[in-house]
Amino acid sequence: MSFDAVELIRAKRDGAALGDDAIDWLLTQYPGGAVADEQMAALLMAIVFRGLDPRELRTWTDAMIASGERLDLRGLDRPTVDKHSTGGVGDKISLILAPLVAACGAAVPQLSGRGLGHTGGTLDKLEAIPGWRATLSPDEIRRQLDEVGAVVCAAGGTLAPVDRALYALRDVTGTVESIPLIASSIMSKKIAEGTQALVLDVKVGRGAFLGDQERARELAATMVRLGADHGVRTLAQLTAMDRPLGRAVGNALEVVESVEVLRGGGPADVRALTLALAALMLEAVGIVADPAAALDDGSAYATWRAMIAAQGGDPDAPLPVAVRRTTILAARPGVVAALDARAIGVAAWRAGAGRARKEDSVSAGAGVRILVARGEEVAAGQPLLEILADDDDHLAHARAAAADAVALGDEPAAQLPLLLDRVDQATH
Ligand code: URA
Repeated sequence: MSFDAVELIRAKRDGAALGDDAIDWLLTQYPGGAVADEQMAALLMAIVFRGLDPRELRTWTDAMIASGERLDLRGLDRPTVDKHSTGGVGDKISLILAPLVAACGAAVPQLSGRGLGHTGGTLDKLEAIPGWRATLSPDEIRRQLDEVGAVVCAAGGTLAPVDRALYALRDVTGTVESIPLIASSIMSKKIAEGTQALVLDVKVGRGAFLGDQERARELAATMVRLGADHGVRTLAQLTAMDRPLGRAVGNALEVVESVEVLRGGGPADVRALTLALAALMLEAVGIVADPAAALDDGSAYATWRAMIAAQGGDPDAPLPVAVRRTTILAARPGVVAALDARAIGVAAWRAGAGRARKEDSVSAGAGVRILVARGEEVAAGQPLLEILADDDDHLAHARAAAADAVALGDEPAAQLPLLLDRVDQATH
């Protein structure tokens, strides 16, 4: 069946729902150019304003999944469960969670992406480990899930490939911030990955995509419904991203902190969020186990070592450290009132830990170390943050971005609780 793209754009612009055949046609014709970039951009903008109803969203997501390959992970001897975070600063939880949940008896296929802007990417972090390889074939993924129980690798270009083109277009046309477009983009890739269950960590606060809790809840509910519609048991947890997670932001720095948590130590907030998400993942696949015990008894760490080695990495190799360093000092005595997630994320990005364009490379050793905690009393001249970069230019840019990242006052400012609402099929 053929359609007129302009008619469909007009229909959506004026608030009509698009038919299933029309949506299929748009998403199959766009990659070949029969629907032009400017037409798709106009349609996306109409969707930003008019939305997609649940039937349109399901069809849109189905068409994105159908644009590529779908992994078949059936037949493993353990249930599969994955976790996706909408992205945050210092969010290294995936690195810890995959081996931890595997050590508790599930299989974790974590098909991940790279960082863009001020939020880091799981693959960029793991690539700080010498020898570690992000790209695996579907056979290698299955074999590693069988043998180790956990895989963190690149989602590759074959899962929902139309999302790549749409995302690149959204990025340059101001059409990223739409709940149906974000939900279909994330869920099409996760459904195509073949996982049986999925836990979504939906971030809220200044360091997140969505600052507002209501919008984050709506995004979570939309993704939970899409997962259920596609037979993927999906749970979502809203979590705070008004301050960074842990004390390390940057690729190698975050690997080091993740290993601390995997060995039973590390910052309390990183451990607490890891355990909360692990509990949800195990619940989603009906496994009764104690993830805290797996951190403390060395079994999660042993799985980490096996997971890294299976992808060519050396878990004992020293990690790169950036050679240029500077510190941000307290301008006056006071109490650490707040740590600004966004400012610290931008500083790590400017230091070289992140990329501005998809094709940029990142520095493994650059980033920010947070030297103080909220509520701590500091003296004038005390170091608050340490910035690491490979050269003076990056260092200077990062310094400027971090200058006001630590707010000093007379008492700690209010902050969101780490764990906010949980959203699952029963709660919406
Ligand atoms: N992450 C995605 O994969 N897609 C979006 O649209 C937003 C975040």
